[in-house]
Amino acid sequence: AQHVPDILSPEFAADPYAAYRAMRETAPLIWHEATRSYVVSRYEDVERVFKDRNSEFTTDNYDWQIEPVHGKTILQLSGRDHAVRRALVAPAFRGSDLREKFLPVIERNSRELVDTFRHTGSADLVTDYATRFPVNVIADMLGLDKADHTRFHRWYTAVIAFLGNLSGDPAVASAGERTRVEFAEYMLPIIRARRENPGDDLLSTLCAAEVDGVRMSDEDIKAFCSLLLAAGGETTDKAIAGIFTNLLLHPDQLAAVRADRSLIPQAFAETLRYTPPVHMIMRQSATEVTLSSGTIPPGSTVTCLIGAANRDENRYRDPDRFDIFREDLTTTTAFSAAADHLAFALGRHFCVGALLAKSEVETGVNHLLDAMPDMRIADGFDPVEEGVFTRGPQSLPVRFTPVTA
Ligand code: HEM
Repeated sequence: AQHVPDILSPEFAADPYAAYRAMRETAPLIWHEATRSYVVSRYEDVERVFKDRNSEFTTDNYDWQIEPVHGKTILQLSGRDHAVRRALVAPAFRGSDLREKFLPVIERNSRELVDTFRHTGSADLVTDYATRFPVNVIADMLGLDKADHTRFHRWYTAVIAFLGNLSGDPAVASAGERTRVEFAEYMLPIIRARRENPGDDLLSTLCAAEVDGVRMSDEDIKAFCSLLLAAGGETTDKAIAGIFTNLLLHPDQLAAVRADRSLIPQAFAETLRYTPPVHMIMRQSATEVTLSSGTIPPGSTVTCLIGAANRDENRYRDPDRFDIFREDLTTTTAFSAAADHLAFALGRHFCVGALLAKSEVETGVNHLLDAMPDMRIADGFDPVEEGVFTRGPQSLPVRFTPVTA
């Protein structure tokens, strides 16, 4: 049998993709003592858990994973409860609302950031752009004060650390829980004020939303906004870092995208397959479940390895190659986000923000390529992915000749 490193070990963090291959081949279903979960790595199995056609899985794991930082959100809900709550929030993230209301917000926030470095000839695509852009967009969509964006950035960093704290560091845990209190203190008065004086923003839309006589309480809205901050910030941040890492390391593909911007959706989909921002999603088994890799007893935690499934050789040809032209990954038209990789999950909890993420990445890539016609790797460029639960490079220094207006 091949050596399979522990998913919490430094060896795994240094190169999870090698470990994923060994798992798919020799240990596609592993009991992992530290997380007390069954770990699955094959595309077929992860897809089956996410789709959950026979209601064999629940999302009860989120009660301990995210309840302490966000409160009750749609991630934890199931069945009709989930369907109604999701229907309350989903319309704001569909094509028409995005195009009419939020595309200008996305464009404006991207330009503001690019303007901070476009004349300098150098930038760090992660720290100067990717970590700020999606958080700013969400804050702006909600109609929050620009001056508070840095506070948002701090909160979401603490939340993400909490979510990735698989080894249970108490300092990280308490910083995450403190965020929940601070966020509530900040957000609840704003929600109450917005109910009295609604505007054209996402927060006002959420306050007014009603499905089957159900409306969201202040607490529901606060929890959802908290989720948006983390679910929409960190992930899109890592997707932007990922697409540039992959393109800069494959200059021929970067040149192709630069010359033909209609290739951006393909480059985005391939990035999400090859280097997904979210590597692990958990579920609980409600019944005994038999997967292709073995049988899981009822009441178990199941850790689905998205990063492993997305490189399954039974699903993709030459899966360890980054190739925006691959034929086994269909991409789609401008305002759809469906794609056959598992980075956004599948089924009932399929990412609500997938289209928003796609619009942000398309806008961001276009702006950055325009501002940096000869973008190239700078000294110190070492795009090592960090993280276990979510992964991405912490820094991406580039140089370029500034465009003179
Ligand atoms: C759900 C990934 C961007 C909001 C999810 C899930 C994944 C995911 C894997 C499923 C979680 C589960 O099944 O347990 C991503 C990635 C993104 C991204 C890779 C960027 C490339 C966004 C954005 C937003 C967002 C921009 C909104 C601002 C949500 C919400 C859910 C979700 C609210 C919960 C849906 C539900 O439970 O029904 N996302 N996401 N995400 N995402 Fe995203």
